[in-house]
Amino acid sequence: MTELSSRIAGVGAHLPARILTNDEMSGMVDTSDAWIRERTGIRQRHIAAEGETTSDLAEAAARRAIEQAGLKPEDIDLIIMATTTPDFTFPATATVLQARLGITQGAAFDVQAVCTGFIYALSVADNFIARGQARHALVVGAETMSRIVDWTDRTTCVLFGDGAGAVVLSGEEKAADGPGILSTYLRSDGRYKDLLHVDGGPSSTQSVGLLRMAGNQVFRHAVTNISESMTTLCKRSGVKIADIDWFVPHQANQRILEGVARKLSIPSDRVISTVADHGNTSAASVPLALDRAVEDGRIKRGDLILMEALGGGFTWGAALVRY
Ligand code: ACO
Repeated sequence: MTELSSRIAGVGAHLPARILTNDEMSGMVDTSDAWIRERTGIRQRHIAAEGETTSDLAEAAARRAIEQAGLKPEDIDLIIMATTTPDFTFPATATVLQARLGITQGAAFDVQAVCTGFIYALSVADNFIARGQARHALVVGAETMSRIVDWTDRTTCVLFGDGAGAVVLSGEEKAADGPGILSTYLRSDGRYKDLLHVDGGPSSTQSVGLLRMAGNQVFRHAVTNISESMTTLCKRSGVKIADIDWFVPHQANQRILEGVARKLSIPSDRVISTVADHGNTSAASVPLALDRAVEDGRIKRGDLILMEALGGGFTWGAALVRY
């Protein structure tokens, strides 16, 4: 059997209409626009309306990606949803999305790797496609982080936002220098769970819980692990950092983006940054950033892209893609 390549056939995104500015946040907790901008680069974030769910955001992003791919929902035979804020404990939000899109074939499931979720989901979908187990995979990163943030904790609530991004991967015969996911690299190390976690869950507390984080320790691990994943993936793929056209990082904090860029000598004009407008949208942040750069024409067909992320667990990883 020939191994197939997973081409990004379509990209889509969706953000809730409500924008919460830093100035508004300073009326909610003891913070300021100046502090948030200087420490994180964030200017605003989008927040889901009351009753607006992760699957609402995911559906809008998914429909755009499917349309951009020139496909119909019924062409999709695999849905992988990366989310840490599912609509329900079960069923998987991917199956909720599947029903809303009117898809009755194939498989749908969620992946939980927090902020690295989209990279994990992309990697899983790529493996399904490579082995001929799916033809058109919908990979979605969607979050309503506002539902698990402690709105009285200024050290975390200023950082997060809601949103969704999606890609459609289509299986095609591999061609030299052709489009597709060239390689992915996934890591985790569960010893660090206490540095970034939610203090609840069905089995432990029978409640949803709220996000807790030791920010400055996470920061240090983020720069080190993200840099490691990028250099390892490039080395394994025989690609130099200098050969990469665009870096599409997880949007946690502008200082993390700059720290990694400095460490690897990446010019800042090749790093896609949306953190100022979106905040940290966890699993949605990479596809949201990808969508923006495709929409505004920076990322073009044939470009070499490196995506990366780190999240709770810790989980981290990277994906090298020819767009
Ligand atoms: N407004 C004003 N002051 C604040 C705020 C706030 N929103 N938050 C914290 N402070 C105060 C602290 O209380 C502390 O005050 P003190 O010195 O009187 O005790 C002071 O600011 C410095 O706090 P630090 O935590 O040391 O600040 P730091 O420079 O590390 O910035 C931040 C904090 C922005 C959270 C940073 O550590 C960070 O970005 N870490 C990465 C975490 C992250 O992005 N996690 C997301 C999930 S993981 C991921 O996506 C990669």
